[in-house]
Amino acid sequence: MKSQEIRSKFLEFFKEKDHKIVASAPMVVKDDPTLMFTNAGMNQFKEFFLGNTEPKSSRVTDSQKCLRVSGKHNDLEEVGKDTYHHTMFEMLGNWSFGDYFKKEAIEWGWEFLVDVCKIDKDSLYVTVFEGSRDADKLEQDTEALNLWKNIVPESQILFGNKKDNFWEMGDQGPCGPCSEIHVDIRSAAEKAKVSGASLVNQDHPQVVEIWNLVFMQYNRKANGQLESLPAKHVDTGMGFERLCMVMQNVQSNYDTDVFTPIIREIEAITNSTYAKDEKIDIAIRVIADHIRAVSFSIADGQLPSNTGAGYVIRRILRRAIRYGFTFLDTKEPFMYRLVKVLCDSMGAAFPELKSQRQLIENVIKEEEHSFLKTLDQGLVLLDTIISNANSKEIDGRKAFELYDTYGFPIDLTALILNERGLSLDEKGFDVAMQEQKKRSRSASEISKEDWTVLLNDSEQEFVGYDTLEANVKLVKYRKVTSKKDGEQYQLVFNLTPFYAEGGGQVGDKGYLEQSNGNVVYVLDTKRENNEIIHFTKDLPANRTEVYKAVVDEKQRRRTEANHTATHLLHQALREVLGTHVEQKGSAVHSKYLRFDFSHFSKVSSDELREVENYVNSRIEGNLALEEGRNIPMQQAIDQGAMALFGEKYGDAVRTIRFGQSIELCGGTHVKSTGDIWHFKIKSEGAVASGIRRIEAITSDAVKDFYSENNQKLSQVKDILNNAKDPVKAVTALQEENAKLKKEIEGLLKDKAKNLKGDLLNEIKTINGIDFLAKKVDLDASGIKDLSFEMGSNKENLFLLLAAENDGKALLSCYISKELVASKELSAVIVVRELGKYIQGGGGGQPFFATAGGKNPGGIAEAVEKAQGYLV
Ligand code: ALA
Repeated sequence: MKSQEIRSKFLEFFKEKDHKIVASAPMVVKDDPTLMFTNAGMNQFKEFFLGNTEPKSSRVTDSQKCLRVSGKHNDLEEVGKDTYHHTMFEMLGNWSFGDYFKKEAIEWGWEFLVDVCKIDKDSLYVTVFEGSRDADKLEQDTEALNLWKNIVPESQILFGNKKDNFWEMGDQGPCGPCSEIHVDIRSAAEKAKVSGASLVNQDHPQVVEIWNLVFMQYNRKANGQLESLPAKHVDTGMGFERLCMVMQNVQSNYDTDVFTPIIREIEAITNSTYAKDEKIDIAIRVIADHIRAVSFSIADGQLPSNTGAGYVIRRILRRAIRYGFTFLDTKEPFMYRLVKVLCDSMGAAFPELKSQRQLIENVIKEEEHSFLKTLDQGLVLLDTIISNANSKEIDGRKAFELYDTYGFPIDLTALILNERGLSLDEKGFDVAMQEQKKRSRSASEISKEDWTVLLNDSEQEFVGYDTLEANVKLVKYRKVTSKKDGEQYQLVFNLTPFYAEGGGQVGDKGYLEQSNGNVVYVLDTKRENNEIIHFTKDLPANRTEVYKAVVDEKQRRRTEANHTATHLLHQALREVLGTHVEQKGSAVHSKYLRFDFSHFSKVSSDELREVENYVNSRIEGNLALEEGRNIPMQQAIDQGAMALFGEKYGDAVRTIRFGQSIELCGGTHVKSTGDIWHFKIKSEGAVASGIRRIEAITSDAVKDFYSENNQKLSQVKDILNNAKDPVKAVTALQEENAKLKKEIEGLLKDKAKNLKGDLLNEIKTINGIDFLAKKVDLDASGIKDLSFEMGSNKENLFLLLAAENDGKALLSCYISKELVASKELSAVIVVRELGKYIQGGGGGQPFFATAGGKNPGGIAEAVEKAQGYLV
């Protein structure tokens, strides 16, 4: 059975059992601070388990794209080394939200595997939670045990501890005991020798867990305690790739049709063969796995970057590049060439891959280019470290610097050292790493108290589309402490006019007025799961009275102008540049807006003007806002609303229309476009390959911009002695400047020529080396030209030139290549050592290196010491 068919069989099976088939949520999580990536199928349903939101259907099923590379569930380091772990994988799941519980979950799980998939029931083992004696004091799951006993022989039922049989999403959140189903795919002969039961949960590649049935009944709170959930739920997760392995009768996930097309392509591109040499196999598996993780993340809108989720993606991609570089000898970008086969095999189930293929390829290619460059540079730096080392063990701190500052992977450092008969001071590396971790941890550390709940079962409503003021009651609050913001309070109200940061739009600020007339300022508003959290410095004195909550109107109105302008800009870009333009990110502030979009070349100034004109004509048209609330998703799409891949939308959506621009959007907007007053693009540039960014301003900010420009123009006119036509006057100055520059260049060239003659005469021959060390009156580029010209006149030249420019010292050392080889001299070492006299440092190549320093007073000494290198 092909993998596509296996996926459909699963979904159809549960559909017949009255489950609604839903789409996979994005793999990149946007509104949950406890999670970066979806790590289990249940993530998108967390709020249903906690009882914060009512589900539309009490039974659902899907295939969820998951990524386990950070936090509690992190498999990154296993990937490639074994044949059944992945970074990105599909999790098939069925859920009950307060509907059926253990009986159905267990019976249907068995029915699907045995009756539908026809897996030999003697090869299956199930596990049951044995209970715990720790602080949680949990009982054995006898209910599950008895249910299993009805269908499975007792010899196939095993007990498991908390690690394996009590599933938790993270440090906090819904959790409960679970039953895992394991399958033994070994040959009959092997089974006869060693019982399958003894290999369950023992990391055996052919006795693996395929399905986990979790019986959700608790919530782990921030203080570590468990509380019972209001209702009982079922959350199951089956490893799709593992199920394919079993169904396709192969011994490794990588031998299923999910991976084989990618592996064949890797073999073709890198001229390598899978299944011959373990080291190469690991590299191929790493690459086959990671290309999926990275491509799906980019399709979900998460580009590689230097922080947060983007950094994790960059590291995954770099891990793959590094394996290719080291074991498959790939010195050119190649991963991007795998995107096509991935789209061919998975594009039908996940159309976001297909529609974004070009972007995914471009981004990966660019990342590969830059990381390969880093690797090249790192190799040179590592060479210098090695050549300067005094012992066979290389300083761990130096290796850490290479890793931390230049991104050069430590395992590659270790490998290279090993090849050269050297070793790495791992302890020193670990210490440096720990120190750095401590520094960054303490910078971001946050501690949160538990919520103090004042109103139970209170609905929370956002009323800020219609009003900026409302009477509100406190539902709950807690204190949070972080290095960055100090002590703050987080407040949740029964209703609120405050917009929580989301969809690119910043959160509202404002204040709460108490009955005694005192106010508490709201510094920011954010969303956490489905709750709107208001950040304040203080707590209201009386926590049970009604407050008047007031949004800062000026900030909100400016932000709205920018948000509506963002929609018009999106529309304009698609009109002017083409419909390949897709939104890739936006930031809507009160002072400016930023819009990232896919487009493959620079937007020309003519095009920018056209875009600006388009938006301004819509502003002049004073188009009225047409808002649709609670529109069924399909209806919105049929109306032409732009839906973004990677966004999670409920069944009912909100549409925002201004003329032809219609988008799904939860943000706040002007009543009519005339309120924007004017739109002005401030900059356009690249953020990543294939992604451009426009920054723009509207309303008051445009007025400020023009008045500032006017002021500057007046100043320029003043400086130009009240020139009538400042453009003409500046052009004349520029022409004159260019002429003068040319003249100076000519004069300097003459000077250098004379100087070269003089210096050649001053060269002394010492120990067979032509030597000169001298302070000259030239700039860095003059010195470089002169050094190389003198080098072409002399074969055995050791030249140290120094200069003082603008109060700074410069040293430059040129050594003929022949001398570098025969006398083992290095200009890099010379400038580094002599650099200390001028209080500076530098680098370069063994035949030419320069150093800059802040102490020109040390030039004379540096020049004097140069001769020391000849003995
Ligand atoms: N949430 C459960 C898991 O991820 C099913 O294993």
